[in-house]
Amino acid sequence: NQRKRFGASLKHCGGEDSRYEPNLWEEQQVKKASLKFGSQDRKRSEDKYPVIPGDQIELVRGAIVFEENMPSHESATAACSKLHSLEEYRRLLPIFGYKDKLLQAVHDYQVLIIVGETGSGKTTQIPQYLHEAGYTRRGKIGCAQPRRVAAMSVAARVAQEMQVKLGQEVGYSIRFEDCTSKKTVLKYMTDGMLLREFLSEPDLSSYSVLIIDEAHDRTLSTDILFGLLKDLACFRPDLKLLVSSATLDALKFSDYFDSAPIFNIPGRRHHVEIQYTIAPEADYLTASVVTVLQVHITQEPGDILVFLTGQEEIEAAEEQLRHRTKELGSNIAELVIHPIYANLPTEKQAKIFEPTPKGARKVVLATNIAETSVTIDGIKYVIDSGFCKMKSYNPRTGMDALQVTSVSKASAKQRAGRAGRTGPGKCFRLYTAYNYQHELSEDTIPEMQRSDLANVVLTLKTLGINDMIKFDFMDPPSADSLVKALELLYSLGALNCKGDLTKIGRRMSELPLDPMLSKMIVASEKYKCSEEIITIAAMLSVGSSIFYRPKGKDMLADAARARFHEGNIGDHIGLLMVYNEWRSCGYGVSWCCENYVQYRCMKRSRDIRDQLERLLEMVEIHKTSSLNDLEAMKKAVTSGFFPHVARLQKGGSYKTIRHQQSVHIHPSSSLAQSFPKPEWVAYHELVLTSQEYMRQETEIKPEWLLEIAPHYYQFINVNGSGSKKNILNQVHQGTVRT
Ligand code: CDP
Ligand code: MG
Repeated sequence: NQRKRFGASLKHCGGEDSRYEPNLWEEQQVKKASLKFGSQDRKRSEDKYPVIPGDQIELVRGAIVFEENMPSHESATAACSKLHSLEEYRRLLPIFGYKDKLLQAVHDYQVLIIVGETGSGKTTQIPQYLHEAGYTRRGKIGCAQPRRVAAMSVAARVAQEMQVKLGQEVGYSIRFEDCTSKKTVLKYMTDGMLLREFLSEPDLSSYSVLIIDEAHDRTLSTDILFGLLKDLACFRPDLKLLVSSATLDALKFSDYFDSAPIFNIPGRRHHVEIQYTIAPEADYLTASVVTVLQVHITQEPGDILVFLTGQEEIEAAEEQLRHRTKELGSNIAELVIHPIYANLPTEKQAKIFEPTPKGARKVVLATNIAETSVTIDGIKYVIDSGFCKMKSYNPRTGMDALQVTSVSKASAKQRAGRAGRTGPGKCFRLYTAYNYQHELSEDTIPEMQRSDLANVVLTLKTLGINDMIKFDFMDPPSADSLVKALELLYSLGALNCKGDLTKIGRRMSELPLDPMLSKMIVASEKYKCSEEIITIAAMLSVGSSIFYRPKGKDMLADAARARFHEGNIGDHIGLLMVYNEWRSCGYGVSWCCENYVQYRCMKRSRDIRDQLERLLEMVEIHKTSSLNDLEAMKKAVTSGFFPHVARLQKGGSYKTIRHQQSVHIHPSSSLAQSFPKPEWVAYHELVLTSQEYMRQETEIKPEWLLEIAPHYYQFINVNGSGSKKNILNQVHQGTVRT
């Protein structure tokens, strides 16, 4: 058992590493800059990946384990670069030898759990095998992925392997982007999209096979899909259900699916030497840059994969690396740098899979996307910051925040394993062995247990599942977070007091957005400004910052941005102004450059807006516009975001009304500079960095709150998080002052 072996190898080296030494990294000079890693010789911080010779992950109960004739993946990579034949490459993947047995198992069982090392060919090959075996004659094969980048890149790869145009026989579907056609038989999609398909086709009758891929990721949508599909499988004996996972949680999945058999695809994992830092790193970003250079200068050829937490960090690391390699000039070999994160534009995604030019070394700067869902060949060195960005929700405070958190041991092992896919490798962990051993949790907590569930509950209600407590969750969420979700939906008017879906709720569920955004759109009908509100919703849904501030041009960028915020209109309407001006200039790139606005964000928000426009028709909301009526627009925003209201405090900070949480205006907000500070603001979301910030704020009038959501304040009363009288007083005081 692998986990046990890990434990054992760590035990004998633990004590020594609990000693912290001062940080040994020095600024600027790369030669001197040296992160000290525990040396292997001293048996300090060793953690070995056992070489599993074609082998035995011991699985009990109905496990289907094969050991014979395991093709070497090394030869697969070599073949790919030598022969450039995809057909050849496919045949050399570890999964190929098990094709017939796999098809037999799919034939014999309705539900099958498939376990295999990342890169063994599960995602790209299984749907093709099933297609070749004729399953697509009865319906589509759907393959649900937790990540959109994976869905897109895998679909592209499979289309290439099948020599068809992407979007024809092989397509993908992610939120706001449908790249499929009537011809599509292999459909890769995000798990969230498959969940939405349940809404339009509750028995998923157009599918013959469904694959829940990367099941170990345990995203919110995957977990809900488990419950729904388990149920559906009873009604549709003809439906085949495959659950594929990279780790050994297979038993848990098997248990859940009434002891479904486990099909194991042995893969080769080579030895990975693990090194830890001797002292904890204060700045893992710079530390990872330095480590990249160290590896590049001192280690033999092989590409590097660096795990960081998000886009901004990756961009910063990329800049630092470019700067430093430029300084070093021709003293070092070429370093090809590729970032990969969720919002990476499609055209750049393909780049990371391109073979490294001769004599150069590739560095991939990735989020935990590259942990399991995306496989890049040729990686020999992994640099693990030890952190990832994770959504965490606190039902007590009602805050759902993306936070930089330590990874779990399971993640750290996955990350390290990426270095040993095609040959022996090394993993540099930018934390100490002591950190690893004593401070990292064993496994990542399923998203279900750390998320705001309002969206999930709304979806389930729409599917007619009324009793959430009885839903067959693999790991049930806390009753508290379910109650909070129900409360929110009730206060938004999506549920009535009996907990049944209302007409508003049904309309909201048609929109692929968070409930507060959907409510804002539904409410825009009343305020006759749906045209403007869908633009605002689209701009808020882009996911990354619209504006950018290049170094040395921050003043110009700030001035450009300030122009969109004149007249104290707030961030929401500010976003509308940006979009409308861009639109009136013909959606051009040059306008974006001149205004320090990210073109790709704008392009994306245009796509989203187009979709929302079509959806308006579906939910029968008339297109209306009242561009000059700021109050109407702000009221529509407040209709969705009244649970996100904060009030100015004496010291200049704010307090959220609902949870009495101390929060601040984000420095990037248009309201950050306004004087006097607005008394009442509605915000889009809270982000926790150095402190709690509200992002995207608009000044509102407190009497709107009473007009729009009188019952909501009763709610607060019920929960004791502030008495009704108290809140009304606050509101009235506010009225006096405004
Ligand atoms: O799903 P699993 O991790 O088992 O493997 P896969 O995603 O099916 O990948 C199989 C092989 O295809 C890997 O060796 C990848 O290098 C290759 N692949 C690729 O070259 N480009 C992609 N976009 C996806 C996979
Ligand atoms: Mg996969």
